[in-house]
Formats: sequence, C-alpha cells, structure tokens
Amino acid sequence: MRLVLDNVTVGYTHPVIRGLSLEISNHGLVLVLGPNGAGKTTLLRTIAGLLKPWSGRVLINDLDVSGHPELAGRFVGYVPQINPSKHVHPITPIEYLETLVKLRLGKKRRDIVERALELVELPREKWFANLWSLSGGERQRVFIAQALALDPPILLLDEPFTYVDPVGKKSIARLIASLRHGKIIVVTSHDPTLLLPYADLVVLLSRSGRHVVGKPNEVFRREVLLEIYGDSFVEYPSHMHMLDHHVG
Ligand SMILES: Nc1ncnc2c1ncn2[C@@H]1O[C@H](COP(=O)(O)OP(=O)(O)OP(=O)(O)O)[C@@H](O)[C@H]1O
Ligand SMILES: [Mg+2]
Repeated sequence: MRLVLDNVTVGYTHPVIRGLSLEISNHGLVLVLGPNGAGKTTLLRTIAGLLKPWSGRVLINDLDVSGHPELAGRFVGYVPQINPSKHVHPITPIEYLETLVKLRLGKKRRDIVERALELVELPREKWFANLWSLSGGERQRVFIAQALALDPPILLLDEPFTYVDPVGKKSIARLIASLRHGKIIVVTSHDPTLLLPYADLVVLLSRSGRHVVGKPNEVFRREVLLEIYGDSFVEYPSHMHMLDHHVG
C-alpha cells in the first residue's frame, strides 16, 4: 500500500493548502497538526477524493484518486469530524454499523459489525444503547468501528479525540497506535502530545497556507515552528519539552 500526495494545492475560494507533497508506504501513522482553519479537514477530504485539488495529484498504489471518492473509497475508511447533537434520531451502534455495511456490501453482515465493535472494544452492553446517549469516547469508538468494518488499508480520522475525556483519549490513542502496524492511518489533531510518540510522519499546517512535512524530530524544531507559526509559536514550548522525553 502506498499513499502519495504530489504537489497538491487545494482550497475553496482561496487556496488553503499550497504545494503539499508526502509519501507513506506499507503502513504507519501520519499526524496532521495545525490550528483551527489551517486545512486539516480539507487535507483529509482531499485524500478521500471528496475535494478535487486545484493542481497536483493524490495517488493510492499509483492510482490517481484525485477528486474521485468512488476510487479512493476502495481503499479508505473515513471518520469525519463531528459535532454530535442531542436531537439526532435514536439509533444503536449495531443498527448504525449494519446500515453502513449494507450500503457497501448490499446485504446485512452482523458478523462484520460485531467484529468491528469488538476490535474497538466497545463494551457489549453499549451495542444496543442509543448511540447519542453514549459518552463522547464510546461514540468515537463506534465511528472508528464504522470506518474499520470493511478492513480498509487506509484510515482517515478527523479529530478523533473531540469530546473524549483524558482517560478515553489515552485509550483511543492506544487503539490508533495498534492499528498503525497494519494500515496507513492519517489522523488530525489539535493536540500533538497523544499520538506524536507513534507518528511516522508529521504534517504541520498553518493558517498562512505554509506547511512542513517530516519525521517528528525534524518538524518539532524551534526554527521550523517559528517559521511556520511565527507569533503563535508560544503555544508549543511545552510540547517540545514533552518531545525531549518521549521521542528521539
Ligand atoms: N466548504 C467550504 N467552503 C469554503 N471555505 C471552506 C469550506 N470548508 C472549509 N473552508 C475554509 O477552509 C479553511 C480550512 O478549513 P478546514 O476545515 O480544513 O480547517 P481545519 O484545520 O480542519 O480546522 P478545525 O481545526 O477547526 O477543524 C478555513 O478557512 C475554512 O473556513
Ligand atoms: Mg477540521
């Protein structure tokens, strides 16, 4: 399995990401970091073929999937960024996953659904609860199960730690870390501390459209952060400190 972004420029009315290239082969974890509005979601949507780059290409195993979700969808499981609302129609995790699997395979596959919920370690007593009554962390596991159900070689996770408490964050981070041995995983986050120790590649995006791609110890250097983030660099010293202890 190989995921390549070749000089991708993408945006809406204005370009959000300019000339981004990266490559990851076999399996591993790509951590996409940056402030609100930097383009993290834009990047995942581009990899999934949901947004067509203005220029450049997204290649999966040398197949050009740029702007082609039906091609990217053969390889990609996707957990979009969500804003759960209490006023959503009640549905259980089992029903939710069965519906999505049926949509893809044309038939109900309870075995696939149960395996996915076991993989993400959602407690069995929650399988038949209202999805919207679950805790943020439990619900996020259901969404990850949805993306994993058909065992895609590439997994895109947009802000999987939102609404998850600190203990839940650690356990979702462990789940993601374990999956990186068999898949290419691209995760966005505001918080670099949880997944940085497991990241093979870091993509730092900024609101100015600049970015850096590299291994964690190449990217988390004072001069690189200053160049990318300028004044907002003050947010990062504690993370650099953390890096001294955990990565190297
Ligand atoms: N559908 C859209 N139409 C026009 N502009 C958009 C659209 N979606 C996003 N943008 C703009 O593109 C930029 C990047 O947005 P994006 O959602 O990718 O950021 P993000 O890094 O995921 O932010 P957050 O941390 O808040 O999730 C922002 O300026 C946003 O306003
Ligand atoms: Mg986003």
